[in-house]
Amino acid sequence: MTPEEKLEKCYNSFKSKIDFKPYIALILGSGLGALADEIDVKYTLNYSEIEDFPLSTVQGHKGRFVFGYIENVPVVIMQGRVHYYEGYSMQDVVLPTRLMRKMGAEILFLTNASGATNPEFSAGDFMLIRDQIANFVPSPLIGANLDSLGTRFPDMSEIYNKKLCDIIRNTAERIDIKLQEGTYIQLTGPNFETPAEVRMCRLLGADAIGMSTACEAIAANHCGMKVCGISCVANLGCGLTDKPLTHKEVMEAADKAAPLFKKLIRTSIVDIAEQFDSCK
Ligand code: HPA
Repeated sequence: MTPEEKLEKCYNSFKSKIDFKPYIALILGSGLGALADEIDVKYTLNYSEIEDFPLSTVQGHKGRFVFGYIENVPVVIMQGRVHYYEGYSMQDVVLPTRLMRKMGAEILFLTNASGATNPEFSAGDFMLIRDQIANFVPSPLIGANLDSLGTRFPDMSEIYNKKLCDIIRNTAERIDIKLQEGTYIQLTGPNFETPAEVRMCRLLGADAIGMSTACEAIAANHCGMKVCGISCVANLGCGLTDKPLTHKEVMEAADKAAPLFKKLIRTSIVDIAEQFDSCK
């Protein structure tokens, strides 16, 4: 089955079960899934109910789409994403992103947990993702181009939409939530980095490291979505502290940040729905 056929099959499976057109698609990262429990839920769809959908196995990730409204904004939320380190092809990793585009979503709001390489960041900070480095993972666009989605050689000069960044920045300021800004680098994981790798990432210009997101942003740009993202800095990168890193620590930090994070995401989404079309 080609990636295009697989996408079509997943879309048909969704269509046969759910009649809903989202405006914003939201991907919730490790430990950040609780936001989905607070929206006005209309439908849920477990990934396992979608024929041929890649299934996520990582702890802390629920595998389902949640469809509903944040205030009056129709959203689809991915509660749990698919990671490259689980062994899926990059095309499978970005299939859900493409599927949400096919559902009708125009904006992709990415979230994740990350480790800081910027020594000025602290655990618990939020970072508006302004740009990214994805060269350490294969491009999700390798292989035959999906012409129905986008062009062979897509531009990535504004991979995180500036207008969306402006709106989120203003939102954070208005509700008094501190927001760092910077460049996110995606590595494959699942191992955390060595101190030398963290120093390398810093030298390359990254402010935060994670194991997701950049590939989804590429696929979303390719298929014409406008993209924004916020990273929850769960820890300082290896070598910036002398403590060894654990997944448990990352989850606990995400849990602790969750209430403020939820507020920031919710408010940003309402502001985006109000302001984005008029400032495009
Ligand atoms: N490195 C990579 N990914 C992460 C980290 C980290 O330190 N923290 C949370 N996700």
